[in-house]
Amino acid sequence: MRKILFNNIGNSSDYLKNIALLHSDYDMFRKKHFSNHCIDILQKVYNKSEILLTHSATGALEMVATLINIKPNDEIIMPSFTFVSTANAFVNKGAIPVFVDIKFDTLNIDETIIEKAITPKTKAIIAMHYAGHPCNMDAIKLICEKYNLYLIEDAAMAYGMFYQGKPLGSIGDFGVVSYDITKHITAIQGGMLLVNKSSFKTRAHQIYHIGTNRKAFDLGEVAHYEWVDQGSKYQMNELNAAILYQEISSSESIIYHRKKLSALYYSILKKFQPATKYVMLSEELLKTNIHEFYLVVESMVIRNQLIEFLKDKQIEALSHYQPLHLSPMGKNMGRFIGGNNTEGIAQRIIRLPLNNLTTESEVIEVCEQIKAFYNI
Ligand SMILES: Cc1ncc(COP(=O)(O)O)c(C=O)c1O
Repeated sequence: MRKILFNNIGNSSDYLKNIALLHSDYDMFRKKHFSNHCIDILQKVYNKSEILLTHSATGALEMVATLINIKPNDEIIMPSFTFVSTANAFVNKGAIPVFVDIKFDTLNIDETIIEKAITPKTKAIIAMHYAGHPCNMDAIKLICEKYNLYLIEDAAMAYGMFYQGKPLGSIGDFGVVSYDITKHITAIQGGMLLVNKSSFKTRAHQIYHIGTNRKAFDLGEVAHYEWVDQGSKYQMNELNAAILYQEISSSESIIYHRKKLSALYYSILKKFQPATKYVMLSEELLKTNIHEFYLVVESMVIRNQLIEFLKDKQIEALSHYQPLHLSPMGKNMGRFIGGNNTEGIAQRIIRLPLNNLTTESEVIEVCEQIKAFYNI
């Protein structure tokens, strides 16, 4: 029996021709041919943002930490149910992560308790859009305005998703997107920084170019480029850009495919739900459910048993983030505001196979095996 994979490297084997093209022409590398083509396409979506393609979303978050001049003991509010990069990019500069609990419906930061986490040291709030589902950006934006805080969107999982017609990542002061191999649109490794405030544009390019005014030089504004700021080599590798170009050129069909599979999972698993104790995302969220398909089952024991049961049937299903506030670093460095949703979700979530090569019959097979697990 063929293994049903949780993730896969996508179906854009066409990127091989892009790589062959690069291989044949040094100038295409030098002039960042594919990076520029990607930006042309992306600019149509993120039309008000300055777009910088990076080697990772982690790198893009680190750029934000430099851009907003993070100093030791500055406090950054973020969910605890997120990837380490969300915290580490700021902790690397001495900031203190202040973790806020998530909501059970979207698994996003609970905006109703954010104000309890604010102190005079608070510098920014990070809205991480879990699985591409938008945080309550209206409420979070109001809090940022009230306390004069930066709003950073961690849209690592949210390429192609929108909030009130605006692409996720383009609403806060800064947004980051990941094009890692684990994401639905992938460069194998890559990311993107969206700078949404024009006053940060020039500095963003300097930090991006190892602290030099290379961008001004490229535009013919200065005779030489020189060291003017902090920074690092955050740029996306051109080989990754060649892959990304193929992926974003086919992003509509990728998103369509994943939405269709999500809806299929939803319709089948909803039917079984009365005979089980798992919780499903709301139907409303299917609109933005392309990154993954998850269930929240009754306990960690059941979740782990289900993962093992599916593994036995050649089906790969996974848990997700461990709460950052309970990790060794989080306990040492940060503090936590809220109840126990983060811990409960981390123990009970199970993510099912959903990738660009997943087929409808594989989704049906996964659902059949979940049915068998619950003896329905
Ligand atoms: C919420 C979140 N932020 C940031 C990242 C980091 O992305 P990258 O792997 O592109 O550095 C990830 C990666 O999974 C993530 O899930």
